[in-house]
Amino acid sequence: MKAITVEPKKPGTARYEEFPEPDLHEGSVLVEAIAVGVCGTDVEIVEGKYGWAPPGKSRLVLGHESLGRVIDPGTSSSLKKGDLVVGIVRRPDPVPCPNCAVGEWDMCRNGRYTERGIKEIHGFMSERWRIEPEYAIKVDPSLEILGVLLEPMTVITKALEQVLVVGQRAFWEPKTALVTGAGPIGLLAALRLSARDLQVHVLDRNETGPKPELVRALGATYHTGSVLDLDFNPDIIVECTGVGSVIVDSIQTVGAGGIICLTGVGAGGAAGLVVADVAAAVVLKNNVLIGSVNANKRHWYKAGKNLARADRKWLSRLITRFEKPENFKQALKRKPDDIKVVIQFSEI
Ligand code: BGC
Repeated sequence: MKAITVEPKKPGTARYEEFPEPDLHEGSVLVEAIAVGVCGTDVEIVEGKYGWAPPGKSRLVLGHESLGRVIDPGTSSSLKKGDLVVGIVRRPDPVPCPNCAVGEWDMCRNGRYTERGIKEIHGFMSERWRIEPEYAIKVDPSLEILGVLLEPMTVITKALEQVLVVGQRAFWEPKTALVTGAGPIGLLAALRLSARDLQVHVLDRNETGPKPELVRALGATYHTGSVLDLDFNPDIIVECTGVGSVIVDSIQTVGAGGIICLTGVGAGGAAGLVVADVAAAVVLKNNVLIGSVNANKRHWYKAGKNLARADRKWLSRLITRFEKPENFKQALKRKPDDIKVVIQFSEI
């Protein structure tokens, strides 16, 4: 079969090549790939900045935003041939740490977790892949190709759950929410926040393209420019850019008692940052900064329900480009109007 593989930490090594069929030890369920979403993490891995090959191997099959069709359910009693499935990304560490021991691998404490297509286990950008039955999530068949959005939806499901849990530390009636960055994660956050009794605002640098209209279609308000120019102090900020200056501006702008959830992974700082001044603002306003990564089975379950409930037309506008596996390099190049780019391996 063919797969998109890379030698992690070595830029320029990604290729679409012949690769051995998936090994039975990767799981008893055999799946035919339909589509795999591309995200910033994949770009980082291909640029040699992130990623780990399986122990003893030099190459890693890329891809963690999967959608496939079961060819052989193996030992699984709940799956059947033809079912649409998405693979859970993370596996618990082998110790296991207390959180992994209770199934909260997203909260792994010792960093020895593994992740498909990212850290030490092959991903889903191959014509066929295998998975353990308990890590295969059945997708509502009516979602069709939109099932490929399930993984990003799990990330935001966890992040928003964290915000709501932390919000319970005191009496809290959030009225306004700001999402910074209108990429797939930001737009899915806006979708979920607008299902609540909140005024939702989304800020992004793009002034044109599909993003402003997608935000307005949710009944939310679209902003460009700086967070500092907003004329309100959000109760909730979901930060999806990972950009230093946006993060600092968010801390300065969040309302008293407000919560900022950081979901973006960036690098570097913000010019002129005076750390103790920023910390003082957080102290004096009782703010909480939460970092949130990955998702456990509870989030996958909830995300599946929420995705199936969402407006299909709106969701389909998030996928702005489909590419063939042989053109994966095009898929990894960001174009100005891209939201989610998907590599399609076979017809739905
Ligand atoms: C994935 C997560 C993963 C994280 C860090 C993200 O792109 O969606 O599942 O935990 O990268 O590796």
